Amino acid sequence: MQISLILHNLIRWAVLLSGVWAIFNAINGLISKRTFSKSDNLSSLLFMIFCDIQLLIGISLFVSNAWFDKVKEGMGAVMKNNVDRFVIIEHALIMIFAWVLVHVGKTAVKKAEPHAKHKKMLIFFGIAMLLILASIPWPFRTEVARPLFRWFN
Ligand code: HEM
Repeated sequence: MQISLILHNLIRWAVLLSGVWAIFNAINGLISKRTFSKSDNLSSLLFMIFCDIQLLIGISLFVSNAWFDKVKEGMGAVMKNNVDRFVIIEHALIMIFAWVLVHVGKTAVKKAEPHAKHKKMLIFFGIAMLLILASIPWPFRTEVARPLFRWFN
């Protein structure tokens, strides 16, 4: 499972970079009132793909690293343990919600009138990014801290 954890840790940076790029494009497009470009589309697509990969690896970690067993044992015990509650409730559930927002947002941008595309992109991806940033186990989050980078040891 070490490899999945290393990948999940690393791909977080791809999610964040592509998300920042997409949001930058959305703000830039809104301010300059330009038409939806190839770069707008590519950044949204990459953000969505990296979120998809993160979801799949996350689910595999959830099942194989005994988090799912803890859910089966009962949510009462999960809620009492800060680390379990963070990974199972905050991290997994909020990240799934952010993933849904990215997908709904991508479709909404596709269907929107040309003048409304950047605004939709900013709202959906902006909220998704805030949720993702708030639910990452950053090293400064004392009880649930995880490293910024991880490698085989
Ligand atoms: C954009 C989405 C996501 C990001 C940026 C993200 C990021 C991270 C990071 C940075 C870690 C710490 C890795 C480490 O210890 O080195 C982590 C751990 C974890 N993530 Fe995610 N994650 C995302 C989505 C998900 C989803 C959707 C799930 C499950 C459904 C999930 C399940 C987990 C689990 C179970 C762990 C703990 C792994 C373990 O130590 O056993 N993640 N995540």
